[in-house]
Parts: sequence; structure tokens; C-alpha cells
Amino acid sequence: MKLLHIDSSILGDSSASRQVSAAAVAQLQKKNPSIEVISLDLASDPLPHLDVEALSWLGKELTPDVSGRPELVAGAKALNDFKAADIVVIGVPMYNLSIPSQLKSWIDRIMVAGQTFRYGPSGIEGLAKGKTVVLAVARGGLYGEGSPAASFEHQLSYLKSVFTMIGITDITVLEAEGLATNGGADRARILSDAEQKASAL
Ligand SMILES: Cc1cc2nc3c(=O)[nH]c(=O)nc-3n(C[C@H](O)[C@H](O)[C@H](O)COP(=O)(O)O)c2cc1C
Repeated sequence: MKLLHIDSSILGDSSASRQVSAAAVAQLQKKNPSIEVISLDLASDPLPHLDVEALSWLGKELTPDVSGRPELVAGAKALNDFKAADIVVIGVPMYNLSIPSQLKSWIDRIMVAGQTFRYGPSGIEGLAKGKTVVLAVARGGLYGEGSPAASFEHQLSYLKSVFTMIGITDITVLEAEGLATNGGADRARILSDAEQKASAL
């Protein structure tokens, strides 16, 4: 069994989403000690923005003339590691109402027609069925249903659409939101609640 652990926060040791994603991975390792963990830190090891050349190689085997190009190799590895994973745990901060651009660059490498979805006769069909996705999301503000900013939430709603589109139905959300509200006074409790939820995975 393979677990792909991705972090995307730029805040290093003070990152909330990293803390919660690490708790989730620790719990999944505890439950299954033989699980193989592949880690990807998109802040320290970012994938470049998708460009036309990288697009032309998506899902294809690199030929010898380009097989030494680090950005193409990293893009191919991102897709292969994702396809091989049974469980994907992602630490996701909210930055400017959405996800970090580093994580978007990764998504641009794994949403590949013919690999993780296809255009079937009745529309898009997911090909990445059977995986489990755990999203450790962190936000400074409050965007829950009924809150004044609910319609501004393009972080979790976007990721749910991405993984649903490619056929993944088993999506668990570990949410730490409101981390900056009340001057950050509730941060410790909010993180502890999210870690508690991680320990029940
Ligand atoms: C560049 C940047 C943009 C942010 N934008 C938002 C935002 O739009 N809404 C929000 O609620 N919090 C926002 N925050 C607060 C983060 O969501 C919060 O600090 C959260 O803990 C980030 O996750 P991390 O600690 O794992 O990096 C922003 C923080 C940064 C650094």
C-alpha cells in the first residue's frame, strides 16, 4: 500500500496544514506499519507553472533527448506517484481564497486526459477510482455554510471538484478554520480538534 503525502504551505514549522497533514500520516502509518510513504514538499520543491512544452509531455514517456530535463522529469514523477498511490494526504492552506499556486501546479500535472480522466460519450469520466484522499485544510477566516464569506470559499470546494472529477469518491476533510479570528486566540484549540479528527482516521 502506498501513501502520497503532499504539503504546500510556505510557512514551514509554523504551518497549521502541515501539522494536521503530519498527524494524518502518522495515524495512517500507525494503522498500517508497512505502508510506503512518498513525500512531496511543494514549497521547498515546487513544480514550475505548466507551460506549452510541459503540456505536450503530460502523460507521455520522456524520450532520451528530454529525459534529463528536471522540470519534465518532476512533472512525470508527480503523475506517476499520484497514479500509484492508494492514499493521498494533502496539507492545504487557504491563500487568497484559494489554494497555493504551488499546489495548482501539481494539479496541472495530475489532471491528464487519458490518464486520470477521459472524455467519454456522456461527458467526463474519472479514471483514478478507488483512491482515498485526505485534505488537511487550514484557513485564517470562517467560510462555513451560512457564514457571510461562505461564497468566497474556493479552496476546499475547488479541491473536492478536482478529485471528484477524476473519479475519487472517498474524500476526508480535516478542517482547521478560523485560525486568525479572535486575534488567533482559538488557534491551539482549533488545531487540537483537527489533530483529534486525524487520530480517528
Ligand atoms: C499569502 C496568504 C494569504 C492568505 N489568504 C487568506 C484568505 O484569503 N483567507 C483566509 O481565511 N486566510 C488567509 N490566510 C491565512 C491562512 O489561511 C492561515 O494562515 C492558514 O494557517 C494557512 O495555512 P498554513 O498555516 O498551513 O500555511 C492567508 C495567509 C497567507 C500567508
